[in-house]
Amino acid sequence: MTTPNYQSLEVLYSREQIAARVAEMGAQISADLKGEKLVMVGVLKGAALFLSDLARSVTADATFDFVAVSSYGKGTRTSGAVKLIKDLDESIEGKNVLVVEDILDTGLTLSYLRKLLLQQRPKSLRIATLLDKPSRRLEKIEADYVGFSIPNLFVIGYGMDYAEHYRNLPDICLMSPDHPE
Ligand code: PRP
Repeated sequence: MTTPNYQSLEVLYSREQIAARVAEMGAQISADLKGEKLVMVGVLKGAALFLSDLARSVTADATFDFVAVSSYGKGTRTSGAVKLIKDLDESIEGKNVLVVEDILDTGLTLSYLRKLLLQQRPKSLRIATLLDKPSRRLEKIEADYVGFSIPNLFVIGYGMDYAEHYRNLPDICLMSPDHPE
């Protein structure tokens, strides 16, 4: 892994664009809740920054929980091998749940999680994703709230990583195709 060269990165969505869109999403989520409480379930690690900003845009009584999913390495995710490595801390039975993701790609992760969470009989279960790559979908699943729909680009920053790096970039950037592996 070479040292990340932050200066050479191309910005896809700036921090200002992200903030504006996240505020809109929070307002829509708040309106849909009609004053009811919410459990925000973040999917570690990529969704951490999005959840923290989205939560501050939601005007509802919200609690947080987190799950973590392992895919036995990205290469095998297409085989559907998804496993829960951190479960919810609290039961979601009878509650309004919002699953918060940074990116919806093949849909394998969210399909697996949705099925798992629905077994607990929440009152409602909705999905918010900051980015959506519909062209990559292998499972039939859509998010209820989408920040930006994008083509099949390798994106980093605002929680999203390349080999665990770049998650702290405030903007969403494009990983250059000639980046040394
Ligand atoms: C990313 C992202 C989603 C998943 C989406 O997680 O956060 O959880 O991939 O891909 P899918 O729709 O093809 O299942 P990743 O495995 O990169 O882990 P991370 O959140 O820790 O970065």
